[in-house]
Amino acid sequence: MTKKKFWDRTEDPNWEAIDSFIAEHFLEADPALEAALAASDAAGLPPIQVDPLQGKLLTMLAAALGARNILEVGTLGGYSTIWLARGLTGGGRVITLDMNPEYAEIARKNFATAGLADRIEVRVAPALDTLAALDAEGGGPFDLVFIDADKPNTPHYFDWAVKLAREGSLIVVDNVVREGAILAAQSDSAHVKGLRDFYARVAADPRVSATAFQTVGSKGHDGLAIVRVTQAP
Ligand code: DHB
Ligand code: MG
Repeated sequence: MTKKKFWDRTEDPNWEAIDSFIAEHFLEADPALEAALAASDAAGLPPIQVDPLQGKLLTMLAAALGARNILEVGTLGGYSTIWLARGLTGGGRVITLDMNPEYAEIARKNFATAGLADRIEVRVAPALDTLAALDAEGGGPFDLVFIDADKPNTPHYFDWAVKLAREGSLIVVDNVVREGAILAAQSDSAHVKGLRDFYARVAADPRVSATAFQTVGSKGHDGLAIVRVTQAP
């Protein structure tokens, strides 16, 4: 039996139909992305990547920023990485972090299939170690950071993202609603604590300005946060 997803409880039959309607109008057939999904699925990766409409938002944000330096925390099979890389401005690069070498291998193959291997670097290690290393080696500043990894560490990833940003950078964070689980102030869940800590840090940080919105669709009820760095760190 496949593991139940945390969002199963509130599934609405129209959510996916509406996403399909939007996708039919706004997305094109995309063999490279479909191949990436198929390869990830065949390798048994959990199907928790961003949905296509959210992926396109990543491309659009990167393009709007003129991003040349993008950082992603949480590669999985590299699906969102491909969307990010497609928004790069000429000569730009994506660095994506994952501690799982099997995920990284699948992701690298997916980048090659998408013709993006020369623009994406996967670093395999616990992301907190790589983030410290990037800082030490003078990496960045990153124009856009996408955080979509282990949720308990989200506040720490956010701290690093600000540190590695410039004025005007955007930090996008996935899964910031989790069916409303974030409302549970007394929760023992490390996921919920991590996300609530993320909100508290954003709220207390004078260097950033943020919004977040709830999302529904093939991934149930969740949300995305978009944080703008308004003051050079
Ligand atoms: C999970 C993780 C994600 O990043 C996501 O978008 C959905 C679900 C999870 O770990 O269950
Ligand atoms: Mg996610």
